[in-house]
Amino acid sequence: MAFRSIPFIAMLTRFVFVCALGAACAGTPTPAPTPEPPVDAFTMNQRIGRAVNIGNALEAPTEGEWGVAVKEEFFQLIKDAGFTAVRLPVRWNAHAETSAPYTIAPDFFKRIDQVMDQALSRGLVVVLNIHHYEEMAQDPQANTERFLGLWKQIAEHYQAYPNALVFELLNEPNSSLGAKTWNNLIAATLPVVRASNPTRNIVVGPGEWNNPRALKDLSLPADDQHLIVTFHYYAPFQFTHQGAEWVTGSDAWVGTDWAGSSAEKQSVQFDFNLVAQWAKDNARPIFLGEFGAYSKADLDLRARWTAFVARQAEKRGFSWAYWEFCAGFGVYDQGSGMWNEPLRQALLPPP
Ligand code: BGC
Repeated sequence: MAFRSIPFIAMLTRFVFVCALGAACAGTPTPAPTPEPPVDAFTMNQRIGRAVNIGNALEAPTEGEWGVAVKEEFFQLIKDAGFTAVRLPVRWNAHAETSAPYTIAPDFFKRIDQVMDQALSRGLVVVLNIHHYEEMAQDPQANTERFLGLWKQIAEHYQAYPNALVFELLNEPNSSLGAKTWNNLIAATLPVVRASNPTRNIVVGPGEWNNPRALKDLSLPADDQHLIVTFHYYAPFQFTHQGAEWVTGSDAWVGTDWAGSSAEKQSVQFDFNLVAQWAKDNARPIFLGEFGAYSKADLDLRARWTAFVARQAEKRGFSWAYWEFCAGFGVYDQGSGMWNEPLRQALLPPP
């Protein structure tokens, strides 16, 4: 139960390309942008580097419903603080038709374009995923065609975007999306994305909520060398999720300590060594796509855990993305307009 074994209750860009070239804005045909040379997955993973999740915003049923509406200034703050990338969780399924061809609402696409442009134009890498497609985990068979339909549209829509846009197939596959079903779904989805994005780097992770211990069951096409493998880390769960409203029974965990004892540190090191060994055996780069401790835990302890986990990732060459920017785990406080300094310094210590 160390990781995510508890179900949740709630659980430069086309515009710049086009307008920079001038023509489309004036209504004349636009020459296709010269494609960038492909970037290999290891190099791209280094470029992801140190990232933050723009959480509770675009993966809420509607933006703003969970307290975060994305503002352009976020990306300047994130860039100036020294982060190199953002992970953008998006609930596409809440904005798409339920029958074929599963059209994604044009206004929603426009909003995502706008947010991505705000990030990419500041030199941040963007990891764009499908997040909280919960029906997929409940009934994968009934949702596969729609999932592929969503990816076809997303992939085609962003095919001319720079390498700095990285796709992530699905956040935290779980429940009925067990190892075999998930491996089959990966094998079915990659060709759909590859049809329009032959060399874009794509993030994909193991089942059981992207549990590192499920990596051993993940199978990836050997001939696809533009894959980055992700895992999530919230152990010990009773520490990171103490008092989390969406985790039943977590009130009883409030006050859970993380003293940074050698046993506690060894437990993290053990898990990360498993991942590093898997990465070596399978010759894949690793992205720790989520880790964080909720605001009901003591701030100093959160900072201590966060710093330890981030450094352990870096030591092994993993890129990482903190969960998350300005909601319940926030490294930034929207109310005061200030960084949560202990967390910011835990993530980005002075060199
Ligand atoms: C979920 C969030 C949750 C976080 C930590 C994420 O993957 O999307 O809703 O707050 O994990 O539990």
